[in-house]
Amino acid sequence: MVRIAIVLLGLLTRAEELSCRGRCNLLMLRAAGAACQCTKSCVQSGSCCQDYHSLCAPSDQEISQWPSGADSFKTVKTVTIGNVSMEASATCPSFGPAWVSILVPEWVPVQVEQERKMFLYLPAGVRKAPLWFAFHGTNQHADTFVSWTGLGKFAAENGIALVALQGMKSSYYNNLTRFNVGANSERISPDGPKDVEFVQLVLQTILQLPCIDKDRVYCTGYSNGGRFCSRLASQMSEHFAAIAPVSGLRYPFKNNATRAVPTLAFHGDADPINPFYGHGGPYWKISVPRALQLWAKFNGCRWSSNAPMFFDVPHDHMSMALYDECHSGATAKLLKLHGAGHQWPGCKHGIPGLGKVSAIDGNKMIHAFFDSKTLSSSVRQEYPHLI
Ligand SMILES: *[C@@H]1O[C@H](CO)[C@@H](O)[C@H](O)[C@H]1NC(C)=O
Ligand SMILES: *[C@@H]1O[C@H](CO)[C@@H](O)[C@H](O)[C@H]1NC(C)=O
Ligand SMILES: *[C@@H]1O[C@H](CO)[C@@H](O)[C@H](O)[C@H]1NC(C)=O
Repeated sequence: MVRIAIVLLGLLTRAEELSCRGRCNLLMLRAAGAACQCTKSCVQSGSCCQDYHSLCAPSDQEISQWPSGADSFKTVKTVTIGNVSMEASATCPSFGPAWVSILVPEWVPVQVEQERKMFLYLPAGVRKAPLWFAFHGTNQHADTFVSWTGLGKFAAENGIALVALQGMKSSYYNNLTRFNVGANSERISPDGPKDVEFVQLVLQTILQLPCIDKDRVYCTGYSNGGRFCSRLASQMSEHFAAIAPVSGLRYPFKNNATRAVPTLAFHGDADPINPFYGHGGPYWKISVPRALQLWAKFNGCRWSSNAPMFFDVPHDHMSMALYDECHSGATAKLLKLHGAGHQWPGCKHGIPGLGKVSAIDGNKMIHAFFDSKTLSSSVRQEYPHLI
């Protein structure tokens, strides 16, 4: 009898957890053994957790204990990120660049495999460091991607926390190693790796470090990774202050973003893989300028009913299209790199067979763009339904 009751109780608790989690768009992560709870960001974005009171019913006392911002995490002594534990001081501890292995908890439905890996770098001694997510292209590896693009060195020189997630090799993508993004920035297969959920888990975990500025979380990526940033802009717009896809800008359909997302895209006009003017593979139909215009419309930019106009930037061998006067300063900008192929702008050694490398310093330009965009309170004020 007692045993049956325990089993039943277990099932009920499990069901409640699942419904809580479902209601919260998977953002309601909880530590093993802890009570089901909504995170602050989750409660704030009205799209989820609307009825969390009836579902999760935390006591008032519990609510008052919830942290009101990164500062209040100061009481935490150590933070565990995957298989490493580090001190949670106000400034970033020294960590990486090194691999971290994350054992995805059972209740996050990351199928296929429970162990995921990422490359992490923290800028020792920095307070309120921006956090860049960087996603590699198809069949690349996070560590070589970080060195190929120079992003690792750049992060170290500029006090940036960098996390490069490792994509998974999956039979859902013909055994290619990549992130789960297909046509129109939607997931390629409902049964493939749950990469968005993985990003949510990683972000939630890293944000426990008080030295990370949660208002300055960004996404950049190359090719498949750039397309995945376009997907994250749709699925996690409340967390990403801006995105910068390289050779991979897409406009998600349907775009589920709940705020305007500042966008900076780089694209070679001689890209042999993802053609600048569109009409490529099944996942690459619309042109890059068209994808930009759709983002500009979504971001409420002035003149966004007009196709992008390009202005030459002579010394840099590129031209630029810019939509500004957007909601919350969410500019949409495209750099068309003249003669460049499917490469990371400014990288030392291009990938053989994929065309020329643009000489512009892509990392520096991404940095300048990201630095001008934060998830500030003014952004939220323009979207009162989020609060
Ligand atoms: C964590 O996992 C990574 C990747 O498997 C491994 O390289 C690293 O040595 C591990 N670190 C610790 C502290 O176990
Ligand atoms: C993918 O790998 C599995 C296991 O190695 C193999 O059985 C399968 O045929 C491969 N699929 C493709 C499309 O190559
Ligand atoms: C937006 O949400 C809908 C409904 O859940 C989903 O079908 C669609 O794939 C989502 N969009 C993207 C870009 O993932």
